[in-house]
Amino acid sequence: MSALVVAVDGPSGSGKSSVSREVARRLGLAYLDTGAMYRAATWWCVHTGVPLADQDAVAQAVRDLPLDQGVDPDAPHVVVGGTDVGEAIRTTEISAAVSAVATNLAVRDELRRRQRVAIAVEAAASSFSEGRGIVAEGRDITTVVAPDADVRILLTASEEARLARRARDVHGSDDDAAVEATRDQVLRRDADDSTVVQFHVAADGVVTVDSSDLDFEQTVAAVLQVVAEVS
Ligand code: C5P
Repeated sequence: MSALVVAVDGPSGSGKSSVSREVARRLGLAYLDTGAMYRAATWWCVHTGVPLADQDAVAQAVRDLPLDQGVDPDAPHVVVGGTDVGEAIRTTEISAAVSAVATNLAVRDELRRRQRVAIAVEAAASSFSEGRGIVAEGRDITTVVAPDADVRILLTASEEARLARRARDVHGSDDDAAVEATRDQVLRRDADDSTVVQFHVAADGVVTVDSSDLDFEQTVAAVLQVVAEVS
């Protein structure tokens, strides 16, 4: 028997990471943050001095990436080469650099391979294994990494709502100045990412949840409802 696999995609500021993590927690499932893998790969290249413009060198560094990523939604650790990078991968520097690494197609091949393995381990539930099902979130999980997932959701929100959320996360406020300070970074990253993955429109069979007018609790409830209906 295989366990439940829930795939969630969406643009930055859609709330997909915090919502997916909470949904995993409530359903007792594992949680895979694939954005953290691209961030960890970027941190590793910066940390070891690999020039991000050198596509082959970046691809090789990522094939050798010594990544240890936890899938427990209560403690989703990210460790690279023995260093806990949970905070380091969220800096403005890494956020600004990550698309350069994520648009490298050889990097995507390698990280997608690892993502499929992580999902397969959790999906293979039996009385002999640890598998308990998984919520995996990112930009291409519903379409490329796990197109056969039991539940596939695109979590969207208006540009205005996404910018306000990101401004509150980064600057602690969503006043005009804070929103303007995040606008460039959020929109440029989404535009760069969109050159290699499509996450603004739901693919066939993917359910859209629009969180523009929902708070966190309401969004979690909306996603749980889709899971209950579809699975
Ligand atoms: O979700 P998060 O903002 O942490 O993702 C960081 C970056 O990782 C994205 O901007 C994108 O470049 C990349 N990413 C990706 N494919 C995924 C998840 C993240 O390209 N499945």
